[in-house]
Amino acid sequence: MKSVHKDWILFNGSIVNTKEKEPMISLEERGLQFGDGVYEVFRLYDGKPHLLDLHLDRFFRSMEEIELEPPFSKEELISQLQQLIEKNQFKEDGNVYIQISRGVQPRNHLFELNLQPTYYANIVPFPRPTSLIENGIKATAAEDIRWHRCHIKSLNLLPNIMIKNKIAKEGYYEAILVRNGIVTEGCHSNFFIVKNGTLITHPANQFILYGITRHHVISLAKQLNIPVEERQFSLQEVYEAEECFFTATPIEIVPVTQIGKDWYQTEEQRVIKKLQAAYKESVYTANIK
Ligand SMILES: Cc1ncc(COP(=O)(O)O)c(C=O)c1O
Repeated sequence: MKSVHKDWILFNGSIVNTKEKEPMISLEERGLQFGDGVYEVFRLYDGKPHLLDLHLDRFFRSMEEIELEPPFSKEELISQLQQLIEKNQFKEDGNVYIQISRGVQPRNHLFELNLQPTYYANIVPFPRPTSLIENGIKATAAEDIRWHRCHIKSLNLLPNIMIKNKIAKEGYYEAILVRNGIVTEGCHSNFFIVKNGTLITHPANQFILYGITRHHVISLAKQLNIPVEERQFSLQEVYEAEECFFTATPIEIVPVTQIGKDWYQTEEQRVIKKLQAAYKESVYTANIK
């Protein structure tokens, strides 16, 4: 089996070497049967976690939303993740993936109380995708066919996967999702437009994931005196925008150069460039939390 993650993983509280022994997960694990669980992805730059507190707060909120009782405190989890990084002697740029699912029981929609959750975390080396960041990507509009609890970082990503695979066949990297005429976000990233110099993005409610990169970009924009509006907007407003971009932990800030056959980047991406420079600076600033 081809795997790209580092050999040592965190598995149910222990650091184990997957080269020596692949961890066993029961066929009746609810994560496997129902996608009954949540996950998180955070970045390591030079082996150091970036915005870890915010990511773990969201992880705990996601667990609370699905009534999954974590088998660790936040401090215990931080210590286990630190051991994971140290055991792998990881000092590069990478992504840490962590998922937790409800546990094992005979298949039944009704979950039993007091199950022992299953969780693991691994590190995937991932340099900053400078080509995407510098050259941008093509996007296209697509119907947002997801559920009404998009703020939960659930393991159930089937709608996102279906949309992503459809648009990829058409040559696009990301979708601009539209629900009832309102632009929400992408399949795996948040979406922003710049109109008359103002940064506009969908409000943080149940129709989008509260992206940590989104949050960070909004605070950087405020520091740079770029006006920010968190409000609903239509596809028409996107076509009237000067600049558009996606944000997500692995890809940071990625400009959109084209939307279907309806919009092409014509301007110089002044705001995006400012934000990207501020983001990069924040990444390699020591002790950022
Ligand atoms: C649907 C969706 N929106 C937004 C994001 C971006 O979130 P973050 O910036 O926390 O990585 C993701 C990331 O996985 C996502 O899946």
